[in-house]
Amino acid sequence: MDELKVLILDDESRITEKLKYHLEKRKFKVFTANTPNEGFELLEKKRPGVLILDVMLPGMNGLDILDKVKKEYPNLEIIMISGYGDMEMVIQAMRQGASDFIRKPFQIMDIQLAIERTEKFLRMQSKLEEAENREVLVSKELESMIEKDFVGDSPQIKRVLQMALKAAEDGDVNVLVTGENGTGKEIISRIMHFGSPRKKQVFAPVNSSAIPESLLESEFFGHVKGAFTDAREEKKGYFELANKGTLFLDEIADMPYVLQAKLLRAIEENRIKRVGSNKEIPVDVRIISATNKNIEELITEQKFRIDLFHRINTIEINIPPLRERKEDIKPLLLHFVNSIAKKKGKQAPQISEALIKKLYQYHFPGNVRELKNMVERAMILSDNATLLPEDFPLRGEGGSVNVAVDTNGNLNIDNHEKQLIEQALKQTEFNQTKASVLLGISRDALKRKIKKFGIEITKGI
Ligand SMILES: Nc1ncnc2c1ncn2[C@@H]1O[C@H](COP(=O)(O)OP(=O)(O)OP(=O)(O)O)[C@@H](O)[C@H]1O
Ligand SMILES: [Mg+2]
Repeated sequence: MDELKVLILDDESRITEKLKYHLEKRKFKVFTANTPNEGFELLEKKRPGVLILDVMLPGMNGLDILDKVKKEYPNLEIIMISGYGDMEMVIQAMRQGASDFIRKPFQIMDIQLAIERTEKFLRMQSKLEEAENREVLVSKELESMIEKDFVGDSPQIKRVLQMALKAAEDGDVNVLVTGENGTGKEIISRIMHFGSPRKKQVFAPVNSSAIPESLLESEFFGHVKGAFTDAREEKKGYFELANKGTLFLDEIADMPYVLQAKLLRAIEENRIKRVGSNKEIPVDVRIISATNKNIEELITEQKFRIDLFHRINTIEINIPPLRERKEDIKPLLLHFVNSIAKKKGKQAPQISEALIKKLYQYHFPGNVRELKNMVERAMILSDNATLLPEDFPLRGEGGSVNVAVDTNGNLNIDNHEKQLIEQALKQTEFNQTKASVLLGISRDALKRKIKKFGIEITKGI
């Protein structure tokens, strides 16, 4: 998918211009309109994926515009802005098909998060559709990719692979993959799918935290025409789209409690009902779930249903953090160096022993993803024939990030999370993708933390 096109329709040019300025910096393609007619024209000409729409516009109420636009462009995602945001308005806009709602005064961060949520959602949908159309081709491509892409010499990672291949053989058993950020949960899940009898069918990754809550049920189970105001056409949900294939539920711990019950029912009965219909539709999917959280803890806090837990983890595969399987550092390092060199059409550099020694000392809070990012960075910055320790600056080493070091020589991330995040954001000029790379966590995790700590991204407008 190309960069996301965003249209902003607000009568105050001060707002549209400021938003345009900030969103363009974040690599969205932005158009602005200050009247409904300008807006309609741009919608037709530019076909944006997202519309940011003010509720109060001169001449035409934003809710009416929402209605009109949704009719003409059913796939357009709409984020409403309101200066008078009472609950009724929110509910009305959501009913009419808005995917999100933001109140003035807002922070750029709110808008950005809303767009990113929507963007992720659009991307996921287009991937699913693509996979559905080219089932066989996609799996072939990935199949050959995977074989040579899962690297590691340690007994722990060999055991992980062995369990994954065993689970794959079965084809029906549900698997829960656990492990810290960046340990390889998604890649091992793909291996399970492409090593299974289901390999010719879709591997459908779904991250429910990327989907606006009001849409979750219909996204998973589909809906019939007229099920709700926005349901103009009938639509298949993920269970039907992934039929005969694998549904990969990423970050399962974030799934809202209410949806968990519905999911459980679908998994237990192998049947679903589309929203607005009583007809049972049989489905046949294997569920692979992943989480970096301790689900047992969430069960005691009553945030996760124990019955669902038992359903999804017939087999549990835990991928240990990289610091507990240091033998894997060297083969992974070589693997990343070679594959990046190949991609760039360059000769792969040598690797100094001192560098390997240095990496052995490091505790890799971001695990394999962090190592991969380090290699990428080093190979951009260095043209030397040999990679040296100084090409791999570690967190807390030099630079401007100052964090406490505990008595084991470990960086203590828990106590310094907020500070680290703020520094990473500052250092990357608030580019969240780059900041998450720096921090060695996923972008989703970063977003959650920004929210949790109430970190301001830019001043409010
Ligand atoms: N054993 C491995 N061999 C080769 N590459 C790996 C291995 N483990 C992880 N990677 C690479 O590291 C990156 C992170 O892996 P992946 O996305 O599977 O992690 P994850 O556990 O799902 O992370 P998160 O919890 O942040 O979602 C990917 O680029 C993946 O290809
Ligand atoms: Mg993942």
